[in-house]
Amino acid sequence: MSWQDDAGKDLVRSFGDRLALFVRGEGCALWDDSGRRYLDFLAGIAVNSLGHAHPVFVDAITVQASTLAHVSNYFATPPQLALAARLKRLAATGESGRVYFGNSGAEANEAAFKLARLHGKKTGLTRILTLENAFHGRTMGTLAMTGKPAMQADFLPMVPGVDHLPATIEALTDAFAAGDVAALVVEPIQGEAGVVELPEGYLRAARELTEKHGALLIIDEIQTGAGRTGRWFGFQHEGITPDAITVAKGIGGGFPIGALITFGAASDLFYPGTHGSTFGGNALGTAVAGAVLGEIERAGLVENAAARGAELRAGVEAFGSPLIAGTRGQGLLIGVALTHPVAKAVVAAAQEHGLIVNAANDDTIRLAPPLTIGDAEVAEFFELFAASLSTVADALLIETSESTSTPEPTEVPA
Ligand SMILES: Cc1ncc(COP(=O)(O)O)c(C=O)c1O
Repeated sequence: MSWQDDAGKDLVRSFGDRLALFVRGEGCALWDDSGRRYLDFLAGIAVNSLGHAHPVFVDAITVQASTLAHVSNYFATPPQLALAARLKRLAATGESGRVYFGNSGAEANEAAFKLARLHGKKTGLTRILTLENAFHGRTMGTLAMTGKPAMQADFLPMVPGVDHLPATIEALTDAFAAGDVAALVVEPIQGEAGVVELPEGYLRAARELTEKHGALLIIDEIQTGAGRTGRWFGFQHEGITPDAITVAKGIGGGFPIGALITFGAASDLFYPGTHGSTFGGNALGTAVAGAVLGEIERAGLVENAAARGAELRAGVEAFGSPLIAGTRGQGLLIGVALTHPVAKAVVAAAQEHGLIVNAANDDTIRLAPPLTIGDAEVAEFFELFAASLSTVADALLIETSESTSTPEPTEVPA
């Protein structure tokens, strides 16, 4: 039996076929079961901030696991208190900020949903706004906030009280006119939708409108946080202060952890008994996240994300590949827009060439490498990605010239 057979019969079918069996990682490289090495430019979907098996990550797990892993939220632990203080400092919440710890992005956003409901209970405001194409998670609350009807269709009815808006300042202004909005939940960049940025000035307009109408501004930084965009958090590019942000993915560097960070008066909404989690904020997870964030700070990886991101985008655009329409994103969350809907074929070709990238949608390749990438990784990426694009462009051309009728670009084998 192959590993594919085992995966096919034993693993839940909610995911597609697994693309490889990885057995080891080090730095920005992964190795599969045949010993083949790959350059990892996905980092577990913007998770492995320090790459794989980073000594700081390994030491933090080892030391904390052999000291104290878990005691429940009846008690506090030093790593938990240190991480809460660090997150408050990095998000610049000031003294009044507070942190709720969960174990994933969805859990952080569930906490945000409940924060919005608590605010609604206090103010009489009921409606939660999110954006079309937004992705906030797969649990029932976060699925209701996710703006993808196809993901919701099998699980109706949705949790009520959530409306999805087109991402325009005009639509947002209109939505507030009804006077019933409790909260607006937005991603600074829609990662799952294909690395789609908000329109210019959107977050500032959102801050003004939410403030004017007494609604919370909650920013989902689960994909954009932990330095990935070239600032600690995506909202910091806009010079605004939100009421809450949610983080996960990159703060744990591969250890499952999520958090809701509140600012100002929103910090007083939860009271004893209103929310909880057995594992959330345990000593092991918070020690690892503290170490990961500490290393990002020490090694200047936020600045590295900004510089390497600019370098990658300029380099990819300079390829002159007929398959590249342009690039989007910020820092090391990059969408390479393709001229044809062949993203899956590019991902497959890249894997053949020893490079891991991701198809965020049919015509976008998402790059989210470890924040630790340096000259060597950038150079290797350019070589492998250019070769991957050529493979797909050649296949497209061959099909076009061999076919008697005009073929659709989607006929390229994925
Ligand atoms: C913006 C955003 N929010 C929420 C989530 C859900 O996080 P998780 O998969 O950890 O539940 C994701 C995951 O991709 C995300 O990108």
